[in-house]
Amino acid sequence: MDALINYTEEQSTPLKGQVIGCLGGGAMGEALVAGLLREGLVKPAALYVSDINPDRLEYLRNKLGVNVTAANIDVVKAADIVILAVKPQVLFPLLEEISPTARVEQTFISIVAGATIEQIQSCFKDRVSVVRVMPNTPCLVGAGACAVSAGKYAGDENMEKALAILAAVGKVLPVPEAMLDVVTGLSGSGPAYMYLLLEGFVDGAVRLGLPRDTARILIAQTMAGAAKMVLETGEHPGKLKDMVTTPGGTTIAGLFALEEGGARALMMKAVAAATARSREMSGTK
Ligand SMILES: NC(=O)c1ccc[n+]([C@@H]2O[C@H](COP(=O)([O-])OP(=O)(O)OC[C@H]3O[C@@H](n4cnc5c(N)ncnc54)[C@H](OP(=O)(O)O)[C@@H]3O)[C@@H](O)[C@H]2O)c1
Repeated sequence: MDALINYTEEQSTPLKGQVIGCLGGGAMGEALVAGLLREGLVKPAALYVSDINPDRLEYLRNKLGVNVTAANIDVVKAADIVILAVKPQVLFPLLEEISPTARVEQTFISIVAGATIEQIQSCFKDRVSVVRVMPNTPCLVGAGACAVSAGKYAGDENMEKALAILAAVGKVLPVPEAMLDVVTGLSGSGPAYMYLLLEGFVDGAVRLGLPRDTARILIAQTMAGAAKMVLETGEHPGKLKDMVTTPGGTTIAGLFALEEGGARALMMKAVAAATARSREMSGTK
């Protein structure tokens, strides 16, 4: 299995011929369904979305042309792959509702934060395949970072399907479930860390007289560009940093200020604090 998946051709994907259902048509449900359509991985007729909000259903039908219904069970009946995309507090009543309709040959993909595979699996009487995902908000703009873990009844085929779906909204990597709390503390919470850094750099430039809008665009593009360099060159970030750090120059002066303030240790502490909180919240600690 490739570590990073980037499917584009309908013919070459594990999703060919699959009917995909999404329970919950909110922000993430919409992002996933829209991503699958945008990448041409699935036709609208093979996509089903259920939601309790009739306005959402109407919106999704008009915008994406997919099948919509208020009945979760109808989606589970129709689909080969079922995405669980409701809020955590709704998940277990929803699983109770759909479990009698679930079939062992289906793949259940949960993006619900904090719900463990074991908790989900225990709601089904049969050995259904469950794949758990930790996505992040940039999935909403097709630039997400997702980690996926397979349950004990999920085989390679189920995992391939989940990887193919999530590749439609960004990068996706498999990890053991025990690592999902760390993923939560890294890329799940990561967008907020990046916004905070971005704001700090913007304030720094505004303090020195640069207009705020100009500073925001320059540093946001710098972050996106640096990330692209890391992903596309595959080089160690330290090497990329050294490439822009002239001896006695401007960059090393800026880097010294960051190191003196303990920037690197703070980032490590941030991941540790968020991971600990995720473990507390999901009861894995
Ligand atoms: N947003 C993110 O970036 C992100 C990141 C990581 C993980 N997640 C996870 O993704 C999941 C979905 O998040 P979201 O941001 O997409 O939430 P959301 O926008 O609130 O979407 C959930 C949708 O499900 C609907 N719903 C509620 N009860 C339902 C039921 N019984 N059957 C069917 N649909 C029902 C909600 O309707 P109402 O609004 O009317 O209740 C809403 O439209 C969450 O579990 C979250 O933990 C999200």
